[in-house]
Amino acid sequence: MNQGVLEQGVDLQSHNTLRLPGQARWFARITDPDLLPELLEWADSQQLPVQVLGGGSNVVLCSDIHGVVLGIAIRECHWQVLDEDQAILTLGAGENWDTVVRYAASIGYRGLENLALIPGTVGAAPIQNIGAYGRDLSDVFESLDAWDRQQARFRTLGPEECNFGYRDSLFKRDPERFIIVRVRVRLSRSAPFRLDYGELAREVADHADLQQELTPEAIADTVSRIRLAKLPDPAVLPNAGSFFKNPVVDQATGEALRQQFPGLVAHPDPGGLKLAAGWLIEQCGWKGHREAHVGVHSKQALVLIHHGNGTGAELLALAGRIREDVRARFGVTLEIEPRLIGNEG
Ligand code: FAD
Ligand code: EPU
Repeated sequence: MNQGVLEQGVDLQSHNTLRLPGQARWFARITDPDLLPELLEWADSQQLPVQVLGGGSNVVLCSDIHGVVLGIAIRECHWQVLDEDQAILTLGAGENWDTVVRYAASIGYRGLENLALIPGTVGAAPIQNIGAYGRDLSDVFESLDAWDRQQARFRTLGPEECNFGYRDSLFKRDPERFIIVRVRVRLSRSAPFRLDYGELAREVADHADLQQELTPEAIADTVSRIRLAKLPDPAVLPNAGSFFKNPVVDQATGEALRQQFPGLVAHPDPGGLKLAAGWLIEQCGWKGHREAHVGVHSKQALVLIHHGNGTGAELLALAGRIREDVRARFGVTLEIEPRLIGNEG
């Protein structure tokens, strides 16, 4: 057992963007996939639960972690050029997502630009199939390599096996099983841009200069500008992005809601209608709400904030009251988006 990678009693506050308090009994920084088999065997022999962590931007830390936290820091980046147009970019799970988006865009490859400025690591991107401004990871996903704890071996999984959906995947449904070490995306020099998402479409329409020189970099800049205007910087106001998923209701329920609430913000979805949870929460009066340690962002009601000295339990209590109000007023149940880790997880 390589004791070098293991630390005991590590403070996790700086390892989660909500800056919630908690300690890891054991913490191992994983820089090389080959460290995993022995480490996991050791954890199993000690009957210690294992929690994987990337940048901590989509978790709610509810308590100390009594097992082993694996901090994924695997670095790798290389290209396989397929032809004049397409290339496959292979990335270590510990690479920073936004750095990769910027890098690919800077050399003219398209496909990642709408996903600029999403915090976190490459290895976490498939977990909830990250998405923004009309694009999801699954649009460019090629394959990934992961350690399968059930089969005790490294496996390569393609898009079919990953079962991606809206903020959903195989990994979200079976969270203990896979540790992703490497992700491949297929990028193109000429694929059409996706510019039809409401706010992005408006920004492009308003900027003649942008229309004249549409590059992946220019689009990544535009998306970043939109995001910075309404999403709080976790370094200033600790948060985990959207706290709830946008709920999907069947067509009949959606139409009935539209009749009753003419201002309802909703978009067609294969399952019926996808409702804007931020709108539902705002209608219930929660936008900008502040209590001692936690609150709701004043520019985006879907984002809950930790103002400091609070706990995961306080944040979840606030989330529970918001859910109750939305359910009572609209008959719609909101599902929490980030992963709860620790005792509540
Ligand atoms: P973590 O928070 O560390 O982990 C999240 C989950 O993934 C955990 O369950 C963890 O166990 C698991 N995990 C992490 N790495 C691995 C791995 N290598 N193998 C197996 N499991 C792993 N998300 C969007 O989809 N779209 C957005 O527009 C968006 N905007 C955001 C804006 C802000 C300001 C913030 C704070 C968050 C936002 N998010 C968004 C959520 C978050 O950035 C993404 O979910 C991101 O992919 C999380 O990466 P991470 O490395 O921080 O993951
Ligand atoms: N809205 C309100 N009030 C609010 C917030 C939103 O009325 O306080 C309404 C507005 O009409 C707005 C619409 O909701 O036009 C949609 O808002 P926005 O474009 O901000 O997107 P969202 O649906 O709230 C989703 C993702 C974000 C992603 C953006 C952009 C989910 C759960 N969230 O938010 O992802 O960045 O779209 O594509 O799907 C995340 O997952 O952490 C995240 C930030």
